[in-house]
Amino acid sequence: MATATKPEAFEHYRSLSDAELIERIGAVRSAMGEQLLILGHHYQQDDVIALSDLQGDSYQLAKLAAQDRDCNAIVFCGVHFMAETADILANRPERLAERGGRRVTVVLPDMAAGCSLADMADIDQVEECWQQLGETIDTSRLMPITYVNSSATLKAFVGRHGGLVCTSANARAALEWAFARADRVLFFPDQHLARNTAKAMGVPLDEMPLWDPRKPVLGGNSHDAIARSRVILWRGHCSVHQMFLPDHVAQFRAKYPDIKILVHPECMMEVVDLADVVGSTGKIIEAVRQSPPGTRWAIGTELHLVQRLKQNHPEQEIHFLSPMVCMCATMYRIDLAHLCWSLEHLATGAPVNVIRVDEETARWSLAALQRMLEISK
Ligand code: 13P
Ligand code: SF4
Repeated sequence: MATATKPEAFEHYRSLSDAELIERIGAVRSAMGEQLLILGHHYQQDDVIALSDLQGDSYQLAKLAAQDRDCNAIVFCGVHFMAETADILANRPERLAERGGRRVTVVLPDMAAGCSLADMADIDQVEECWQQLGETIDTSRLMPITYVNSSATLKAFVGRHGGLVCTSANARAALEWAFARADRVLFFPDQHLARNTAKAMGVPLDEMPLWDPRKPVLGGNSHDAIARSRVILWRGHCSVHQMFLPDHVAQFRAKYPDIKILVHPECMMEVVDLADVVGSTGKIIEAVRQSPPGTRWAIGTELHLVQRLKQNHPEQEIHFLSPMVCMCATMYRIDLAHLCWSLEHLATGAPVNVIRVDEETARWSLAALQRMLEISK
């Protein structure tokens, strides 16, 4: 293999130029061929996107990891929960059996690439919430849904309790699935995605209490509010998307009356209510791709994606919805140096930053992920 020399310590990679890094990454890609699958989330930097084999939103990437039959390794250019999901799906029992027990190695180029939203719910808080709810309502009629932006431990909790995972692309289908089987839903950790989706389905706001895990009793709610609830929201948010404000929409509308506002459902309800189109990163890209030349947009999602859309669609006029820089600092941690470092280690058979979910957690997380894949095939 062209790169099978001993890889250096990470710091050395910082001293290499982009051109050298790109060349060395290219050498590993050629040497590993189909054995290697590099996946890139739409929020990644342009040079990382250019070197990834396939790109997508979190739902599309989960599906790609679930479908691939040929690779030995997935290098996930995204954040930690996405790599965990890829590990669970790529190494599910049926796939392991097909490969005679051989695992696909899943690598996250920088272990510090987490998600602050996913960190807003942990298993102890969710167990405590479930227990307190059990003293107030019938939890056999309560369906847990976790946004894919959550740890595998939380996905396993949901799997054990008969619930499912959703992404921003299928949250409505997940809620419909849940309401066909239960009276109410506990949705964590993103309050905005849950509120925006349930509201669009006609659930009144006063039937969506907000559970604050830092409040010791019923998440800060009255017994009555919980008894009346249809969707119990978790007090979590994306720090990037919460920076888009209704004022930003008003300013664009005042300046350009024909402008279309396009936002991600992790934005707050007051922004989503004013938008023309709301959707996952995949849907945002599609909406722009399908629009005629001259369409004017203000887009509320991560900066790198909006800048790429601007570059790829010079025939349209694309603005970033906020005057502030709203970028995902953890997605941004994956750079050429980390990608090259992790790929060269992988190519020499000494992978670094391997994401491996323990068997028990993977088993129950898979149950919740498979229910998601079933409803949105
Ligand atoms: P998508 O599901 O649109 O990929 O979004 C993932 C995410 O983390 C958005 O902040
Ligand atoms: Fe998490 Fe927000 Fe970054 Fe998405 S944009 S990965 S939700 S912190």
